[in-house]
Amino acid sequence: MTETKLLLGQVLQFTGDPFAADAVMGSGPGSAASFERCGAVAIKGGTILAAGGADALRAAYPRAELVDYGDALILPGFVDAHAHYPQTGIIASWGKRLIDWLNSYTFPEEMKFGDPAYAAQIAALYLDTVLDHGTTTVCSFCTIHPESVTAFFTAAEARGMRVAGGKTCMDRNAPDGLRDTPQSAYDDSKLLLEAWHARGRASYAITPRFSPTSTPEQLSAMGALWAEHPECLMQTHLSEQTDEVAWVAELFPQARDYLDTYEMHGLLGPGALFGHAIHLTDRERARLLETDSSLVHCPTSNSFIGSGIMAVMDLRHAGQRVGLATDTGGGSNFGMLRTMAAAYELGQLRGTPLHPAQLLWLATEGSARAMRMDHHIGTLQPGTEADLVVLDLGSTPAIAQRSARANDIWEAVFPTIMMGDDRAVRDVWVGGRVRAQK
Ligand code: GUN
Ligand code: ZN
Repeated sequence: MTETKLLLGQVLQFTGDPFAADAVMGSGPGSAASFERCGAVAIKGGTILAAGGADALRAAYPRAELVDYGDALILPGFVDAHAHYPQTGIIASWGKRLIDWLNSYTFPEEMKFGDPAYAAQIAALYLDTVLDHGTTTVCSFCTIHPESVTAFFTAAEARGMRVAGGKTCMDRNAPDGLRDTPQSAYDDSKLLLEAWHARGRASYAITPRFSPTSTPEQLSAMGALWAEHPECLMQTHLSEQTDEVAWVAELFPQARDYLDTYEMHGLLGPGALFGHAIHLTDRERARLLETDSSLVHCPTSNSFIGSGIMAVMDLRHAGQRVGLATDTGGGSNFGMLRTMAAAYELGQLRGTPLHPAQLLWLATEGSARAMRMDHHIGTLQPGTEADLVVLDLGSTPAIAQRSARANDIWEAVFPTIMMGDDRAVRDVWVGGRVRAQK
């Protein structure tokens, strides 16, 4: 029989949306969370039974096996809603902006993923690295090669991780060896979707890379596939750099704007995930909200490739679904701690600093909601999956001296958000199993 386990530590849970007007105008974003200094999370098998005060949960589960994390902070595992696992090897490549960066670094590397052994090696390295950083779910682009998708889902399944991913489709403006066709993109995506979607913890995401690398015929084929499989996600990029937006206007003269290039082809609506979404028009913003599509903020990427600053605070206040992501390897880090720090810094540059509650919410529940997986992951709600990260809030002397002065949990966790890395990750639980100690 599976044992009930009680993980003891500090426990932080959201009781509401820290961007909602009542939280912000009332006692502040922090009031959308409940905090237990002496808390516990009860899990059984792969499921969370309860989270709350340690005394109450010890009384409720007197025979539970105890795992005592002292004053470490137990949170839902981080959810990275937009990444490119095949770009692991070219992360931190110097000096280019988007289109040059794709041509100089990304496309040559992605070319290698037709080799199943190489794809398997990088998928394993990538997933182990994100787990080291406390991320338990990713939504990843693969490459045009079906082998890259098989490698990704196989590696995730071996680690018990809930992930989403899909074959990246491109039939123009990409080098020889890295293009498919409308028909082969449809056929390959369909076969992969049938093989992997809802197999264990895997979800398939239909993945046209972005409008510049797909003909209208390919976007239509992707739209048709999504209409046949609305249970799948659809992921792509939107309005990341101004040059790219101008190029899209040339390539699609009949479209009202960048978003319309997707909408015209059936690629807008619930389950659509648009990475970046920095240079949006008012019409695009209104349409994204109206169609309940999701946006994904990728702050380390946006500063690293020089893209601009997304209006996260405004978009969230308007009620837009927004997740948070690394965008590895346009993003310059594998972890969500550094990603939250970058979201804070970019927010400051816009005059809208995000509260630690808002940052932590985006990295967990916000990303889970953007991926429409919040009934499975991203919270400590009873019945959801036991994916957890345990954070040491004093993982380096520099962080420890600052958090020692904290007056509340937000001040205690903020130094780890700003200065923490994988050393802050004490343990990671995936589907109710603790990952081997580093
Ligand atoms: N736009 C199209 N492809 C990519 C990619 O791989 N990374 C980023 N950051 N933007 C893109
Ligand atoms: Zn991307």
